[in-house]
Amino acid sequence: MTLQTGSSDDTLSTFSNSSSRAVLAILYEGGDAAVNEPRLLGTIENKLGIKEWLEAQGHEFIGGLNSCCTYRSDIDCVALYKEGPDSDFQKHIVDAEVLITTPFHPGYLTRDLVEKAKNLKLCITAGVGSDHIDLNAAVDHRIQVLEVSGSNVVSVAEHVVMSILLLVRNFVPAHEMIERGDWMVSDIARNAFDLEGKVVGTIGAGRIGYRVLQRLVPFDCKELLYYDYAPLPAAASDAVKARRVEDLKEFVSQCDVVTVNCPLHEGTRGLVNAELLKHFKKGAWLVNTARGAICDKDAVAAALASGQISGYSGDVWNVQPAPKDHVWRTMKNPLGGGNGMVPHYSGTTLDAQARYAKGTKSILQNYLENKPQEAQNIIVGLGKYESKAYGQR
Ligand code: NAI
Repeated sequence: MTLQTGSSDDTLSTFSNSSSRAVLAILYEGGDAAVNEPRLLGTIENKLGIKEWLEAQGHEFIGGLNSCCTYRSDIDCVALYKEGPDSDFQKHIVDAEVLITTPFHPGYLTRDLVEKAKNLKLCITAGVGSDHIDLNAAVDHRIQVLEVSGSNVVSVAEHVVMSILLLVRNFVPAHEMIERGDWMVSDIARNAFDLEGKVVGTIGAGRIGYRVLQRLVPFDCKELLYYDYAPLPAAASDAVKARRVEDLKEFVSQCDVVTVNCPLHEGTRGLVNAELLKHFKKGAWLVNTARGAICDKDAVAAALASGQISGYSGDVWNVQPAPKDHVWRTMKNPLGGGNGMVPHYSGTTLDAQARYAKGTKSILQNYLENKPQEAQNIIVGLGKYESKAYGQR
């Protein structure tokens, strides 16, 4: 039987009165790296550091792997298939009361799975970005979705600044040249620029987008712009001298560099598509560490190949892990550079993992002890969106 807390606040946790709760954690396999580096907490090997803590309280921790299907004594967990109709993810989701996932190697909780998940009350994203959960289905089924807001925003903002610099300065081809044993400065310098004097704009000026703007201030850019339906408080925009542009086409047409820092939702899926790319300044650079599906895969590859944009960089892909033949792995601009793609890791530095593992435990503890959750972590409360960042409703 499920009880709701006595509070009138709908966003407080619900809880079951049975003493043992089933917590399903779909994490990623860290292999030797995770065995040798215990600070890789987001892996199935290191279990966010919560398995023993949960079990000591009589709860069940079901650890999920993505690519095997037997019990693995070496890492002491039930190994699961994350995907496919017969997957153990689908098997265990039926009984789980709490689901923990990470955005880096996500277990996709589709509406179909939500409908099978008869006991599911709480989804925790160990990190930031819960688009791998069907949030509308969670609303419909009164499943709460929480993430560890703020846990990795500095990690991502630093990666964005690095990505902007490596594109503008044409770093990747320069390093590849050195590895090849070559030395042809002009081949690199013909497409290398300074960031100083350029116009940089962020789509989304929330925790990450704003931190990117803050970090760009000392570069003396010509102007910093932002596009967001939620305007920054005047004191915040004044502090970084950022100007808001309300029309997206006008916004991109003014930017030398566009960085994407908004969540993926119905209003942002495919936002940067062939039509919008036509409005970019010719030769602009595009950095996306938000979510791959915000940018149209083929339109970006075509714009890069034609030189409409000079570079594309980021760590997020429309499907993760990205297939080996994903066009973003190898796409290039006409001069053979402009690709700064890496696997999804900007928000999972070891510093970030410590923070989101701690935050995940804290959310779980609040839930198990029937305490209120921190409001900033609640994306979906009981039957409604609590966050305003996942689209205008
Ligand atoms: P946040 O909630 O603080 O800020 C998001 C901002 O985007 C809000 O100001 C919101 O109003 C704005 N926004 C929403 N829809 C928009 C739209 N249609 N157009 C313009 N702006 C829009 O979130 P935070 O912490 O800044 O994270 C943003 C996203 O970054 C996450 O949702 C996640 O997808 C991604 N992320 C990626 C990571 C990585 O490792 N690559 C790690 C952490 C977050």
